[in-house]
This record gives sequence, C-alpha cells and structure tokens, in this order.
Amino acid sequence: MARTSSACLSVASFLFFSSLLWNFNAARDTLKPGDTLNSSSSLVSGMGKFTMGFHIYDHNLNYSYLVVKWAASHNYAWIANRNKPILYPLGILTLDQNNTLKITHKDGEPVVLYSASETSNANNIVATLLDSGNFVLQELSFDGSPNRVLWQSFDFPVDVLLPGMKLGLNHKSGHVWSLSSWFTPNSAVPGAFTLDWDPEAHELKIRRRGVVYWSSGAFRNGRFKFILPDESKLRYNFSIVSNEDEDYFTYSAVDQSGISEWVLTIMGRLYDFDETIDIAQADYCYGSNTDGGCQMWDRPIDCRHAGDRFEEEKGYFNPTRSGPTATSDTSNTSFSISDCKAACWKNCDCLGFNYLFDNQTGCRFWTGHWEFIKDSTGYSSSNIYFLTTKASSNHEHKRIIWIGTAAAAALLTMVLSIMCCLLRRRIFLLPGENRRKIDDKELLDVKESYSSNNVNALQNDGDMGHDLRVFSYASVKAATENFCDENKLGEGGFGPVYKGKMSTGQEIAVKRLSRCSLQGTWEFKNELILISELQHTNLVRILGFCIHGVERMLIYEYMPNKSLDCFLFDSTRGMLLDWKKRFNIIEGIAQGLLYLHKYSRLRVIHRDLKASNILLDEDMNPKISDFGMARIFTHNEREANTNRIVGTYGYMSPEYAMGGIFSTKSDVYSFGVLTLEIISGMGVME
Ligand SMILES: *[C@@H]1O[C@H](CO)[C@@H](O)[C@H](O)[C@H]1NC(C)=O
Ligand SMILES: *[C@@H]1O[C@H](CO)[C@@H](O)[C@H](O)[C@H]1NC(C)=O
Ligand SMILES: *[C@@H]1O[C@H](CO)[C@@H](O)[C@H](O)[C@H]1NC(C)=O
Ligand SMILES: *[C@@H]1O[C@H](CO)[C@@H](O)[C@H](O)[C@H]1NC(C)=O
Ligand SMILES: *[C@@H]1O[C@H](CO)[C@@H](O)[C@H](O)[C@H]1NC(C)=O
Ligand SMILES: *[C@@H]1O[C@H](CO)[C@@H](O)[C@H](O)[C@H]1NC(C)=O
Repeated sequence: MARTSSACLSVASFLFFSSLLWNFNAARDTLKPGDTLNSSSSLVSGMGKFTMGFHIYDHNLNYSYLVVKWAASHNYAWIANRNKPILYPLGILTLDQNNTLKITHKDGEPVVLYSASETSNANNIVATLLDSGNFVLQELSFDGSPNRVLWQSFDFPVDVLLPGMKLGLNHKSGHVWSLSSWFTPNSAVPGAFTLDWDPEAHELKIRRRGVVYWSSGAFRNGRFKFILPDESKLRYNFSIVSNEDEDYFTYSAVDQSGISEWVLTIMGRLYDFDETIDIAQADYCYGSNTDGGCQMWDRPIDCRHAGDRFEEEKGYFNPTRSGPTATSDTSNTSFSISDCKAACWKNCDCLGFNYLFDNQTGCRFWTGHWEFIKDSTGYSSSNIYFLTTKASSNHEHKRIIWIGTAAAAALLTMVLSIMCCLLRRRIFLLPGENRRKIDDKELLDVKESYSSNNVNALQNDGDMGHDLRVFSYASVKAATENFCDENKLGEGGFGPVYKGKMSTGQEIAVKRLSRCSLQGTWEFKNELILISELQHTNLVRILGFCIHGVERMLIYEYMPNKSLDCFLFDSTRGMLLDWKKRFNIIEGIAQGLLYLHKYSRLRVIHRDLKASNILLDEDMNPKISDFGMARIFTHNEREANTNRIVGTYGYMSPEYAMGGIFSTKSDVYSFGVLTLEIISGMGVME
C-alpha cells in the first residue's frame, strides 16, 4: 500500500513540474515581429480559455488547419486557412520584420493574413490571442497599451459566432461580416449556408446558396421572435449598432458562465455550445412551411406539403411491387449534402438521397416506388435521408406496419424478459409506486450498458450483487423538507444537491438532475451504472436512486465535511488542514484513483477530477465523487478520442483539452494539478 502511494506521489510531483513546464511553454499568448508558431507550439490566451495552433482535421491526408479553439469545445472557433489545407507538420505562422502575418508551408504560396501597406515602425506591432477568442494584430503605443488594430480574426469569421463578434457590414470599407458553413464535415471550404445580418429589416437570416431559408424576425424589445430558446432574453444580450460607419449585430452571453459559441452546420442548423441549444433550425425549412422562422419561397413545389420532411437514419431502400424504381447519381463534386437535399425535394419522384463519394460530395437519389427500411441492427453502414410525409403515415406500406408489429412484439418480449431478469437479480427493487414510472426504454438502456460493459464482471462471478435501493419520491421529499433552500448543499454541473434526513435518522445527499438537461439523463444512467459497480473506501458510496415522472435523483451517503475546495480555498478553514491531513488526502485520492484505473473490475476514467469533486467524511477521509462524466474502458483499451470534451479546463491535460484524446493519463494529469492545489492551497482557474 505504502509503496503504491509513494509511487503515485512521485508521479504527481513529476507531473507537478512537467505541468509547470508545459504552462511555461504554452503560456505565450503573443507573437512579436520575428516570432513563429510551428506545429509543436501553441498560443494560449491570458486566462487560458482559447488556444491557437495547427490541428490535423483529416487524418488520412495529414491535412491541418491553423485554428483558434475554445478549450472546452470540439469546434474550431476560427480557421486561418479554410481554403488552403496545410500538410502537417509543415505549417509555420510568422509575424515577420516587415509586419506581415502569414502561414508558410512547403507547397506553394504562403497564406497571407495581413501585410502592411505602408512601412511603419517595426517593433511596436504584436499579434495576441485574447480571451474573447479574437486573434488581434495591433500596434502598441510607447507605454505598451494597444493603440490601433491592424487586423483581427473576428473580422473573418468561419462558421462560428462568438460573443463580441460582429455580423453586418462596414460602409466605409465595404467589408461584410457573415458566417458560412463548412462544405462537408471534412472540408472547411465555404459551404452552402450563410448567416448574415440584414440592416434594413433588422433581421438575422440564414440563406442556402443565396435563398433565404430562415429569418429571425425583426429585433424588438431586446429580442427576436424566432431565436430559440424562448428564454433567449435571459441567456443572451443582443445589441444592434447602426451608424454612418457600420451596421451590425453582436451578442453577449448573460449566463453566469459567459460561455457561448454559435455554430452554423452544413445542414443549416444554428446551435449553441455542443449542440445543446438550438438557435435556429433552418434544416427544417423547405420553402413550404413557416414554423420557427422558416421562409416561404415564391414558387413552392406542388407535390410537397407542409409537414413533409427528410429524416436521417441508418437503413436501406427496398423496391415495392407497386411500380418501377430507379436510382440516379450526380457526380458533380461541388454538390454537398444539402444540395442533394434541395435537388431531391424539387423532384416529385425522389424519396431519398445520400452522398455519392466518401468525402461526402456528389449525390445518389432514390426515385419511384421504394420503401425505406430502418436498420436497427446497425449493419448497414451509412445514414440515408428519406422522405417522411403526413400521407405516408396514414395509408399504404402495409408491410412496414407488419414488420413494425412484429418488431414491437419482439421488443415487448425482450423488454419483459429483461425486466424479469433485472428483478430476479435484485438490481431494481421497485416499490409499487415507482415501478410503473420508469419507462421501459430507460430500463433497457441501463440494462444494456450493464451487460455490454460488464462482460468481464459477469464471467467472474455471475452475480452483480448490487444493493441499490429505490427511494420513493415521497420519502426523498420528506427527507429534504421538500427540497428547501436551507438543505441545499451546492449546485453541481447538472443540478442542485440537497442534504436530507430519512425517517430512520440516516443522513443522505440527494443529487437532483436538472429536468431540461439531456446530458442529465445520460449522466444519471452513467453514474448509476458505474458507481454501483465500484466499491472502495475512497469513492463516495451511492445508496440508491429515485425516479419520479421526469425527475431523476441519485442518493448518496452524506459527507458532513462537504468538499475539499471548501477547505482548501478558504483561509480560515484551510488552517484546519495540517500537513498530515493534506498528505492523507493526497494518499486517499491516489488510492481511489488507482482502484478506478487498475483494481476495479471496470477500468474507469473519471474525466472530471477536481477539488470540488473530492468529498470529505467526518474524519477528513477523501472520497472521489461525481461520476457523471466518467468513461468505462475495456482493460486492453489504452486511449480514446471524444468529440464531446467535458470537464474543467484547469485540470485538463493538454492532449485532452486540445485533441479530445483521453486515457488514464488524463486523470493522472488532473491528479497532479489537484496535488499542486492541496500543497499550495491555491486553485487553478476554472
Ligand atoms: C518549433 O519551434 C520550437 C521553438 O519555438 C523549436 O524548438 C521546435 O524544434 C520547432 N519544431 C519544429 C517541428 O519545427
Ligand atoms: C501522416 O503523418 C504520419 C506521422 O507523421 C505518417 O506516418 C503518415 O505516413 C502520414 N500520412 C500521409 C498520408 O502523409
Ligand atoms: C522586407 O521588405 C523588404 C523590402 O520590401 C525586403 O527586401 C525584405 O526581404 C523583407 N523582409 C522579409 C523578412 O520578408
Ligand atoms: C447588454 O449589453 C448592453 C450593451 O453592451 C449593456 O449596456 C447592458 O448592460 C447589457 N445588459 C445585460 C443584462 O448584461
Ligand atoms: C456542378 O455544379 C455547380 C453548381 O451547381 C455548377 O456551377 C457546375 O457547372 C457543375 N459542374 C458540372 C461539371 O456540371
Ligand atoms: C471528393 O472525391 C471525388 C471523387 O473521389 C473527387 O473527385 C473530389 O475532388 C473530392 N472532393 C473534395 C472536396 O475532396
């Protein structure tokens, strides 16, 4: 025991220094004349929110873009060379002595971002990555304060609008600020959709190849009629500026985190951070419907009706006996998927489409008497877009109905047998009230995740041996005195945590997942599955859960000393932590982590290790909590890549924050940061 923990400690101290070193290298946010940025270096904005560097986006061709990226998102907030991919690792960004900002590479002309028209004093020009995400080339006055902006990335948006960016036009220079979507998921060349500001109508507009698909409605009383969600006024502060020099729209995020990033997709949808909040759904606009800001076109297509739309699903087309069928291809590689969609919509015989080439260009159309068969087995490799009409759900397609009935019957049998299984294994001891309220699908999901992740566990002892209790809503409500504010312990990422006292006198902590959060449901299942599998003195123990209508709650043992951050970053309470206690806490976390990574039946990566997720019991023993972000690894899997980068920035390893690559090492990195905090009593920025 002692040896493993001292090994962990030496790893931690190694990390301590290497993270310091890394910070040293990366802490640079500015290029001076003569400085360069190559593929193994990066710029990091002052508070660490944004980074800038060369990212490979096409691993087959080793193509890279020079991007500005918000650390917590997988999107590129800005791309310097969207029209000119650069072979990795050959790109170099240079600010030369002549004040030219350019990207040089091995094949062909450099990509020039800015070149000075007049020769000016060379040494007071710098290029800085700001915490807003703006990369600014500016002239400094003699005291070092910014004097004049020569060039800025915010003037050349790609498909992302950040708070503070402008949409509109500059009357003097004629410069237009607008977003344009990527061409395909693998090419940032300007694609079919644009988002721009119409200064006359005071509206935001999404166009596809010039045709207005969606409009926000005129700006009135601080809001737009069609900007979702309805509480947009609470979430965003919009401002419209109109003067003789310029006309533009800009916004800021009112949300306490100040975090926002509007992304225009290749199908015309506009969403905020990580697809969690839809701003505009122009992908549902067909020129014949007006819902949600969609625009009617002058000449709607007669054979299509409001309510008809294309859906994307895995599956294939089968010929029916009622008439001829055909497919046709468009091999024009300037067609992207939304062009295929528009072309199929216009052709009354067209029932579905997909792209033709692997790089998602060209089209294949299905016309005539096909029927679409969804393939829930997942064997058919690609997603197909198929037409759904109001009519098709009323008549015809008897076979589909038959298949549907058979599938439903099979599913029902499956669900019933799984439920029997679950009940027999005592995983869910449901009191009568709750039994009816868990919907079958969710139960199925939970069960599926159990079996797919736990093959090893099952083979070992055949019994999963959980003792999870189902708490009735009434008892939780009573224990927390109707979730009153006095009993609130804190607010986690996904909802508030309450203290409660059961009628038996047992103290509990109740995590109530916020209702509207999709991630909440996912997190609920994840945490339930994971934490019930894991048992260690340095992991927080889950007692059970409660499902009531849309409410999801997790119930834990209560920790009287709350979390580590309450002590660490509080000058008076911090004095209670002497060196011995601090050492014990570090050792406990190391043991818990070692168990997660090595000795548990599942290999678990926590992914969000931080001071506020370390709870302390009455003897100040640390317990790792909050497994909502955790991932299960099979024992021979070493690392994985994710599109959804979650966690807390200061604790994220660089390869995870920038490339989404995570492994047990990412947790060890966070542990190193945490150790630093425990030793120094200072917190990293969040
Ligand atoms: C990148 O630049 C750094 C110094 O800024 C240098 O040490 C390193 O060798 C360069 N890497 C490559 C691949 O050129
Ligand atoms: C991409 O880069 C990797 C490593 O640098 C190299 O092994 C591979 O051959 C490259 N692929 C291409 C297509 O250049
Ligand atoms: C700067 O400009 C001068 C004159 O145009 C040119 O001779 C020189 O090579 C340039 N320097 C760089 C580093 O490009
Ligand atoms: C909204 O923005 C305007 C202009 O930037 C500012 O004056 C106002 O205080 C902001 N309102 C809120 C609620 O942040
Ligand atoms: C491909 O499509 C584009 C855009 O519709 C068109 O301008 C171009 O002429 C087409 N090319 C061919 C070879 O048909
Ligand atoms: C996509 O693939 C086709 C056929 O392989 C090729 O002709 C075309 O240039 C490619 N387009 C892009 C944008 O990569």
